Amino acid sequence: MGDLILGIESSCDETAAAVVESGRRVLSSEVHSQIAEHAVYGGVVPEIAGRSHLEKILPVVDAALEAADLDLDDLAAIAVTQRPGLIGSLLVGLSTAKGLAFVRGLPLVGVHHIEAHVYAATMALEEPPWPCIALVVSGGHTSLYVARSPLELEPIANTLDDAAGEAFDKVAWILGLGYPGGPEVARLATEGDPQAVAFPRHRPKDGSIGFSFSGLKTAVLYHVRGGDALAPTPPPEEISDRADVAASFEAAVVDSLVDQTLRAARDHDLERILVAGGVACNSRLREVMTERAAGEGLAAHFPAPEWCTDNAVMIAGIGWELWRTGAVADLSLDASPR
Ligand code: KG4
Ligand code: ZN
Repeated sequence: MGDLILGIESSCDETAAAVVESGRRVLSSEVHSQIAEHAVYGGVVPEIAGRSHLEKILPVVDAALEAADLDLDDLAAIAVTQRPGLIGSLLVGLSTAKGLAFVRGLPLVGVHHIEAHVYAATMALEEPPWPCIALVVSGGHTSLYVARSPLELEPIANTLDDAAGEAFDKVAWILGLGYPGGPEVARLATEGDPQAVAFPRHRPKDGSIGFSFSGLKTAVLYHVRGGDALAPTPPPEEISDRADVAASFEAAVVDSLVDQTLRAARDHDLERILVAGGVACNSRLREVMTERAAGEGLAAHFPAPEWCTDNAVMIAGIGWELWRTGAVADLSLDASPR
């Protein structure tokens, strides 16, 4: 048996715990999603998130240990998301991890949530991919990094405005779909024509690499309002080309993500690409990125879909890398929103 790490994640709206052996073999993974609690508000309400984490954290940790048939004393360390995220939510996971580590005398490891998302894309690889390009696309982030190791991500590009996932969520709202919008827009898009509407693809004017999705979101709004920006947004049943809009919007987001990522790989002369975060669940992104990367002799790697959205497998995974390099925290470890 290798080193067993318990991972705990509570940075946003998922309460999660998992046990992973030596950063690779998943022994258990429990995720309590708060989606139903936030859906009526169309987004995450921080106060509701914090309270829900508090109710679920111990049952979720217990369930993860039980599913792995382990006791706390079998663990090598406890890894927990320390930043970034909602402060009241982070504190629930962090306090729990600290308490457990203290009473059982276990090492405590503080994890950066974004580094953990990237790590998830490497857990099934035969060979280490470093150095490589990493694209993190979620509800809060759309960023490119040169990744030299699991713990060395150098930021090279960002979104100027909305994150890609946020754009999916807003377009879902415009089209009268549920929250979170990504999976709903993707489902409707399968019934539409991605070339029906020529939505804009942002390209930075100075030739640099970067993302922007607010113009695209406005273009969708303008389109469904029949070209009259001041008209009210029509009810969903009156938008006759809803599936075409969903498909054309999704195609525009995917084209931007793939174009900029491949440019980054070329600019930095790197052959491997890791794609992670909730939007990495998107089938069109997975297909187009994989195909176009292969066309340029590059390889793109994604986590399994269930480990693209927030989970604790990725926390336990990168937690093992930190633990074995001696990056152990003490009980003064604090949460940080950034
Ligand atoms: O990584 P994640 O679970 O949470 C954050 O850290 O933000 O990502 C959630 C985001 C949401 O915006 C959701 O709409 C988007 O990922 N998402 C998708 C898909 N599944 C989730 N976007 C596009 N296509 C999907 N299939
Ligand atoms: Zn996340």
